[in-house]
Amino acid sequence: MSGPNTDYDPVEVAAVSPAELEAARDAALAAIAAAADLEQLKAVRTEHAGDRSALALANREIGALPPQARKEAGQRVGQARGAVSKALTARQEVLEAEHEARILVEEAVDVTLPTDAEPVGARHPLTTGAELIADIFVAMGWEVAEGPVIEAEWLNFDALNLGPDHPARTMQDTFWTEPADHHVVLRTHTSPVQARTMLTRTPPIYVVCPGRVFRTDEYDATHSPMFHQVEGLAIDEGISMAHLKGTLDHFASQMFGEGITTRFRPSYFPFTEPSAEVDLVCFVCRGVDSDQCRTCRGEGWIEWGGCGIVNPRVLQACGVDSERYSGFAFGMGIDRTLMFRHGLEDLRTLFEGDVRFTTAFGSEL
Ligand code: DAH
Repeated sequence: MSGPNTDYDPVEVAAVSPAELEAARDAALAAIAAAADLEQLKAVRTEHAGDRSALALANREIGALPPQARKEAGQRVGQARGAVSKALTARQEVLEAEHEARILVEEAVDVTLPTDAEPVGARHPLTTGAELIADIFVAMGWEVAEGPVIEAEWLNFDALNLGPDHPARTMQDTFWTEPADHHVVLRTHTSPVQARTMLTRTPPIYVVCPGRVFRTDEYDATHSPMFHQVEGLAIDEGISMAHLKGTLDHFASQMFGEGITTRFRPSYFPFTEPSAEVDLVCFVCRGVDSDQCRTCRGEGWIEWGGCGIVNPRVLQACGVDSERYSGFAFGMGIDRTLMFRHGLEDLRTLFEGDVRFTTAFGSEL
């Protein structure tokens, strides 16, 4: 072993001088502590621990030192680099944890927030109401029949014993189409579906016919130029008024609840003989203390529609053997029926297309 190298002066090798190393290490540690995110830490790593950093330079300088100075300088450089590397690792862990925590917060999905998805809406109460009525009859073995809304004058009137000069024609204010000599109307009632059915089928016939009808009425809380009716027709051997009454009582109780029956008042329709107006037991007061009842206005009964035994002249006009068969028929407003059922004050709410109304009344099963 040779003696100490007296020519060696560590101060001359500036890069590895204790003061330089300390300054480089402290600068590195301060920069690491100040790095606010992983991006900044990456830059700090390059600057203070990368190939061109002061500490890397010092490390390279060790090789240039006289052998007997290398150990001591190597230890000092190694300690400084070790401290920096440890600090980098520790800071990296802290910043990574912070980054993850932030992502969890920033990218969290609040599943309780209201969505902007399109509301599904609901079927219109007139659609569901007409289906409910049809179902009541289908459950008794009846069929549903439909006809066109633009109808031949003959089917809308003549076939139903309403000849051209019949005074009852003026009871139904008719929309006529042009040219007038084509004799085509917007049907004023669903009764022409009766005629169509008798003309195309052979008895026994049990049909219920819901649909739109038109009259030149004002548009107000109780009238509309377009509204809906449901027609019933039963043609068989031995059909009587008793069958009609039983059928309408069943219809009323299914529609408005147990105990709601009907009464008949004598009336006139050209297509039925005898004819009757049908009233419902008021489903609000049920005839008890009706003086107070706003729905029936003290009557205890509510007008519902018309009915009767099919006039033999109608059977004959529609090709049905009136000697063998008889029948009953009835017709009532669907809109009116639904107004009673849902307690609606104004007919127009059914036609104005407000989705809030449809959702409230159209989603019942
Ligand atoms: N068609 C009549 C109207 O619109 C209602 C009606 C009454 C229909 C008696 C019928 C019936 O089938 O028998 O006023």
